[in-house]
Amino acid sequence: MKKLIVLCGGQSSEHEISCISAGGIMKAIDRNLFEPILVGITKSGEWVIPDADQSLEIRDGALPEIRGGVSKSISDIIDEIKPEIIFPILHGPFGEDGTIQGLFEIFGVKYVGSGVLASAVAMDKSFAKPIFSSHGLKVAPGIVIHMRDWNGSVDTSSLSYPLFVKPARGGSSRGTTKVKSPDHLAAAIDEAFTFDSKVMIEEAIVGREIECAVLQIDGVAHASPLGEIRIDPRFEFYDFEAKYLDGSTTVVLPQDLPAEEIQRAAVTAFDALGCEGLARVDFFYSNDGSLIINEINTMPGFTSTSVYPKLWSNAGKSYSELITALIQGA
Ligand SMILES: Nc1ncnc2c1ncn2[C@@H]1O[C@H](COP(=O)(O)OP(=O)(O)O)[C@@H](O)[C@H]1O
Ligand SMILES: [Mg+2]
Repeated sequence: MKKLIVLCGGQSSEHEISCISAGGIMKAIDRNLFEPILVGITKSGEWVIPDADQSLEIRDGALPEIRGGVSKSISDIIDEIKPEIIFPILHGPFGEDGTIQGLFEIFGVKYVGSGVLASAVAMDKSFAKPIFSSHGLKVAPGIVIHMRDWNGSVDTSSLSYPLFVKPARGGSSRGTTKVKSPDHLAAAIDEAFTFDSKVMIEEAIVGREIECAVLQIDGVAHASPLGEIRIDPRFEFYDFEAKYLDGSTTVVLPQDLPAEEIQRAAVTAFDALGCEGLARVDFFYSNDGSLIINEINTMPGFTSTSVYPKLWSNAGKSYSELITALIQGA
């Protein structure tokens, strides 16, 4: 029996999604192989052993949040539990960006997922894009601006409208705006700067959004069947509401795409950043038939109904089997 910590919550805006993912893992994990212990991180960053009645699901429309519990120092928690492995089911800053991975390295505890560098690079789109390009993957034309250089105007003459403006290290589409004309650009940049001190301005790719789940087994990255995001046409793009709140968003299995080429590109992207364990690789398939990589998520949503497990279930791998494979790969 392997003792492991399932670590959830955290300081990012994806705290609640993390709790739901952890709830799914606690339920589905193979208890013949593993002894999971839930540890929570509150929104203010405190580490707690949650109360026995801690909810990890949506109840009466309310999202779960790590609140109470016994607060302890990180080192006390690791000393007392002595986990063999940590499963950090955390998204966004301080969870998916390499910082907490560095902490695990310092403590010498194995963990599920990518290491410090891959996590950090995947989180920062301004660093990930040139690496993707240098491995032969196409990216959206764009520029990066730093807050220190921002004086209310920017030269976008190399780009054609519509544009997307987004924080370099964002998530869940927060701070992302589709800009159709120059008079709306500055407001969109200001908005993105409320999320990050670095902002991406990109040409809008007109096409379909295609996702591929990559799982590493015995050091080799495997790509899942593809999924296509279908959103209600009243949404301009795959924004926060379409992602989490609108029940009509679905993931379908596209039949008319060059699947093998896209799966190969997903593995190329995974290896290019040096990812480990798992990642969801997100592409655009443009209306003129080119494949453009958008981003890699090194700790994608992992509730039992999230895209990542869904794509693997299309390949016959159950949620429990995925969890086992990830922990064994740690
Ligand atoms: N260059 C682009 N062209 C078209 N759509 C885009 C572009 N950049 C972002 N989007 C839209 O915004 C969404 C969120 O952007 P993304 O870069 O994936 O950030 P996040 O990390 O928040 O998911 C995408 O899923 C897509 O719908
Ligand atoms: Mg995205």
